[in-house]
Amino acid sequence: MSRFSEPQHPVFRELNTSLGFDRRLWPQDIAQSRAHAKMLAAQGIIGEEDRDAILEGLDKVEAELRDGTFPFKEDDEDIHMAVERRLTEIIGRPGGKLHTARSRNDQVATDVALFTREAAVDAQRLLTVFMETLVEVAERHIDWPLPGYTHLQRAQPVYLSHHLLAWFWMAQRDRERFKAVEKATKVLPLGAGALAGVNFDTDRRFVARELGFDDVAPNSIDAVANRDFVLDYLAAAATCATHLSRLGAEIVLWASSEFNFLTLPDAWSSGSSIMPQKKNPDAAELLRAKAPRIVGHLQALHGVMHALPLTYNKDLQEDKEHLFDSVDTLRLCLQSATGMIAGARFNREAMAEAAADELIAATDLADLLVKQGTPFRECHGIVAGLVREAVESGRSLAEVAVPKLGEAAREVLARSSWLESKDSEGGTALRRVREQLEKARAVLAEE
Ligand code: ARG
Repeated sequence: MSRFSEPQHPVFRELNTSLGFDRRLWPQDIAQSRAHAKMLAAQGIIGEEDRDAILEGLDKVEAELRDGTFPFKEDDEDIHMAVERRLTEIIGRPGGKLHTARSRNDQVATDVALFTREAAVDAQRLLTVFMETLVEVAERHIDWPLPGYTHLQRAQPVYLSHHLLAWFWMAQRDRERFKAVEKATKVLPLGAGALAGVNFDTDRRFVARELGFDDVAPNSIDAVANRDFVLDYLAAAATCATHLSRLGAEIVLWASSEFNFLTLPDAWSSGSSIMPQKKNPDAAELLRAKAPRIVGHLQALHGVMHALPLTYNKDLQEDKEHLFDSVDTLRLCLQSATGMIAGARFNREAMAEAAADELIAATDLADLLVKQGTPFRECHGIVAGLVREAVESGRSLAEVAVPKLGEAAREVLARSSWLESKDSEGGTALRRVREQLEKARAVLAEE
């Protein structure tokens, strides 16, 4: 029997179905169903024979889904219905007992929590590989000077190791965010039923243990309405992808003939269909461009959740495509960032030459005067005047400054002291970079 007297309009069916995208939740759905069936039997809600039939049937359904022979049907609305329908086809009536004390509302929330947990664990793993790569490449280029930039103007010289480690700390913060996401996914929705709890003496902690949850949701209404863990994942992914977009942007600049600071490996470059000489940094460009896509998914889900009355509404089905696309996109971005950094050949001469621009030591010259007793603001003005004189007369800063400020100025303008004098904690002096590398290694060893 059915509640309805006419079949669904085909357009409604197309709008309503989620099978096209939620079929990838099948591993979570099967795992959940196994745990649920075991719990039902342990509580005496279904018999042990029914449980065994269900578990055996689920093995068969799983095998079909895994090898691609699962017979999906036109009117399977979603993966949950498809699995239960197929289970019942295979084992008969006991299949109909699996949905006892369960609603698709707590079922889907549980599947998505399991999926998001795996994605958050995977992001932490990929970030760790990225961070290990950064440490290794920083070590190999520990004392290679290049200009540090503000406003994309040469500002003060730094070591390449120091610059690379800046990415390390961003990635470390990303990793912490994904750890928090993982924690947020460990509160079990299942057992909430449709929204109010269920009419059976279930054991939610049994299910939680089986599926690796730390706790059970304390409120059935919140349990089925909650998608915060998806928002948390998308927020962490958006920030992480935004970091990678800045890396992509720098790689594009650095790989240009104008900068010529690095050469990307051929494996991470593409050619032009018309200009034979071109070697394009497409991967880095796409790192730049993928970030807003994930930010868009975050914004879209905020839109879905905004002002949504409690509890479950079909709107919540729209969480999945935003989540899935973000997970896939972020995975590609993290792997590509790691591949490009691991394979990049840095150009020591080009970077050193850019960093040898004397004007880049103007702050250091001002600081010399400060150490001789003049207030910094006055020194800033004095050196600004010297820079202007040098630029306008076409002479070097040393030529202009040394006669006025003495030999100490010449020493300051000698290349290595610009870097080695930045010895404050977290600065670019080698001693401090080594200290930083040690911290970075300690952070990696903690995990
Ligand atoms: N496909 C649905 C979703 O992804 C599953 C839950 C459907 N629940 C319902 N009461 N119609 O949200």
